[in-house]
Amino acid sequence: MSRDRSGDGKRSPDGKPEAEQPPWRRDFPIDTAQDAYVARRDYAKFLVLTSLAFVVGQFGIAFAGLKRAIARAPAREVARVEDIPPGGAIVFHYPGPHDPCLLVRDVDGSFVAYGQKCTHLACAVVPHVDKKRIGCPCHEGAFDMATGRPLAGPPRRPLPLVKLEVRDGAVYALGVEDRTV
Ligand code: FES
Repeated sequence: MSRDRSGDGKRSPDGKPEAEQPPWRRDFPIDTAQDAYVARRDYAKFLVLTSLAFVVGQFGIAFAGLKRAIARAPAREVARVEDIPPGGAIVFHYPGPHDPCLLVRDVDGSFVAYGQKCTHLACAVVPHVDKKRIGCPCHEGAFDMATGRPLAGPPRRPLPLVKLEVRDGAVYALGVEDRTV
């Protein structure tokens, strides 16, 4: 138990009288009670600053998401129509060389394309055209082939949608829409 060293309310950490304290402690006295004391004002300041940092962080995340969502990638031909039979699929990279995407041709001849990274833990998703689904083999996640929205398993967000245009016998990617819902 610490004791008052000097009668002025100050206490040394080991509780011994001031005369028994080492010279360095006498030169640099620390009032342990005061040292551990956190004033209500300090605590309020801490709470305000922590909340402020949290709010700034949230704005930063929202801003980055918005920037990504409106980022326009240049249009690019990704496949020739005749190269993908109905029910078939190919992998292409768009907008950058490290962005794998899946181009799927439904049995009715229409095309859809999505980012190939699962929105759970980024495993590569694969098409199951017969089931109208895009599946993730890692944790049995499943997405609707027509919309890219999650149907089953752990994924909660839809796959990024690659906007397409079919013209002059070719499929063009026009941009990627990163969706949160
Ligand atoms: S990584 Fe796709 S379901 Fe987990």
